[in-house]
Amino acid sequence: MMKRLIRKLRQNATRAWLATRTELRKHFGSADYGRWSDRISLSPNWNPRTNRIAEMIPSGVSVLEFGCGSMVLKEYLPAGCTYTGSDLVDRGEGTIVCDLNGPKLPSFAHHRCAVFSGVIEYINDTESVISHIGQFVDTIIASYVTLECVPERLSRRSAGWVNDFTYEEFVELFSRCGFRLDSEENWSEQKIFCFSKAPPPG
Ligand SMILES: C[S@@+](CC[C@H](N)C(=O)[O-])C[C@H]1O[C@@H](n2cnc3c(N)ncnc32)[C@H](O)[C@@H]1O
Repeated sequence: MMKRLIRKLRQNATRAWLATRTELRKHFGSADYGRWSDRISLSPNWNPRTNRIAEMIPSGVSVLEFGCGSMVLKEYLPAGCTYTGSDLVDRGEGTIVCDLNGPKLPSFAHHRCAVFSGVIEYINDTESVISHIGQFVDTIIASYVTLECVPERLSRRSAGWVNDFTYEEFVELFSRCGFRLDSEENWSEQKIFCFSKAPPPG
């Protein structure tokens, strides 16, 4: 009984500590280099999500993945696709090292499709990032845990997530960046969205 109580108290303290760290990072607009430099932070449990995303990409497409982690997507892509990985830290294989919370994002070569799998939750100014990346791609596939799926702020912050978009806010954000929603589906407690560049008005 006592042991269980102590374990529970410890768990609560750890969650509160992680959430506080995230709030500080959010406040200062910084990225979690400590967490993401450690390969143990990259879970194979995300591979089925990556596999599903790969199934949404037609063959022959050039793919630019942000927050590429272990670059599992490269292995799952259909024939004829080309792959470029980008991440906060160097993941090898010609990673374009880019902090999406950095003050100035670089230019990228044109790619047909950008992928954000389990990454947008860690971006402080999501609209600026999507608006910038949108210049270089025609379609964007993004997973996201909407506020409807995980509403509790402590859960979100202790997971390191710095934003809290509802489904509607998320789709509207992409719309403001010039992307319309083509399709969406549920994956575990999250959604996978496919957006494509909306034709200019008129
Ligand atoms: C949850 S993991 C997802 C990895 C991979 N996309 C997957 O689904 O297996 C988050 C990834 O985003 C990257 N990341 C986190 N913050 C970032 C930032 N500020 N800029 C660029 N990448 C970031 C991490 O290094 C990590 O590779």
